[in-house]
Amino acid sequence: MEKVFKSVMGWVDARFPATETYEYHMSKYYAPKNFNFWYFFGVLSMIVLVNQLVTGIWLTMSYNPSGEGAFDSVEYIMRDVEYGWLLRYMHSTGASAFFVVVYLHMFRGLLYGSYKKPRELVWLFGMAIYLALMAEGFFGYLLPWGNMSYWGAQVILNLVGAVPLVGDDLVTWVRGDFLISGITLNRFFALHVVAIPLVLVALVFMHLVALHHVGSNNPDGVDIKKVKDENGIPLDGIPFHPYYTVHDLVGIVVFLAVFAAVIFFFPDGGGYFLEKPNFEPANGLKTPPHIAPVWYYTPFYAILRAVPSKLGGVIAMGASIAVLFVLPWLDKSPVKSIKYKGTQSKIWLAIFVVSFLGLGYLGATPSDPIKTVFAQILSVTYFLFFLLMPFYTSMETVKPVPDRVTGGAH
Ligand code: HEM
Repeated sequence: MEKVFKSVMGWVDARFPATETYEYHMSKYYAPKNFNFWYFFGVLSMIVLVNQLVTGIWLTMSYNPSGEGAFDSVEYIMRDVEYGWLLRYMHSTGASAFFVVVYLHMFRGLLYGSYKKPRELVWLFGMAIYLALMAEGFFGYLLPWGNMSYWGAQVILNLVGAVPLVGDDLVTWVRGDFLISGITLNRFFALHVVAIPLVLVALVFMHLVALHHVGSNNPDGVDIKKVKDENGIPLDGIPFHPYYTVHDLVGIVVFLAVFAAVIFFFPDGGGYFLEKPNFEPANGLKTPPHIAPVWYYTPFYAILRAVPSKLGGVIAMGASIAVLFVLPWLDKSPVKSIKYKGTQSKIWLAIFVVSFLGLGYLGATPSDPIKTVFAQILSVTYFLFFLLMPFYTSMETVKPVPDRVTGGAH
């Protein structure tokens, strides 16, 4: 059997770099031995991505992308298609799960300075993924053609109207009609099921190629390639396969258990994963009392609403995402990990977390004058975390970084 396998692989390898690629990315990819809890979320993002692609393809088989048929086809999937309810909930809850794992994955980057040299491109590809993901969620949300789908899209598309001079024409062009209609639904469908998934998969590929080219960071922010044995293997590195493939399985099983529990017992997330007005068909004459985007957009929505002018709000919201792209160049610290950074970095990171969560809460609830003031304060602290970063990271005293990683494989 082994002989046959070897000869087949020999034939393949002479024509395609199968073994070489496997070794480069798996069995001879030396990952730091001190990965911790935070390092589960990359692989979990991949699991959720696959879940979204597979359930999405199956949903498309019974979904009808037309203004007349979309809502009913979703009801048909929920009631009549075999396990259609499961497919739909795996997909709709999967969208929220995607953002949960991606936010935790990004936060790990902030904690350990994983965006710093030489991983700037890993971060930039990650940010492009994040943008694509936001677009994917937005386009997908219109598809069930529920009332919140309709009005949510209405609010966001109207933001395009803030562009001076050509705004109104631009909205009509993007919408494809004078109102949100089946035409808008069709183009969102095309973008949601074909265009953006292609972009996403390509970006994830580039993200991982860039990561494996420079090697993974770790909770100590130590470069493991600096200390190697006589064979050129990092002393603090362990082969990704079998060590981390097996290790990751633990995280995957725990994640799937939680994911299944939510799908079976709490699929609408109390109105946060599937909003209540979306159980009614789209109705251009009936505005829901409180229009809010899904939870994963709410921090940015709060920033948008915190600024009194529409154009100003759109610019502030755009800037709050754009600033994440330049993060690698804002952090001037000589060390990567928060473990060795100074007190100021720690305080500012805490302020950032409070601002982001606070804005998330405020964006999800109806605004009033007091909440608007809070949203304004938190928007300012959100931006200060980034804008002051070049100063506090270069001025504070940092702790000495060890030559070798401190934690071990467990
Ligand atoms: C579909 C979404 C994504 C997938 C499938 C994905 C996948 C991965 C995987 C498998 C890893 C290696 C394992 C790990 O370090 O956890 C990784 C590392 C990394 N990712 Fe992502 N990622 C995604 C989105 C993002 C986003 C949105 C960002 C940030 C903007 C990001 C930034 C990073 C960074 C900086 C690393 C290197 C971390 C380190 O070495 O410490 N990723 N990603």
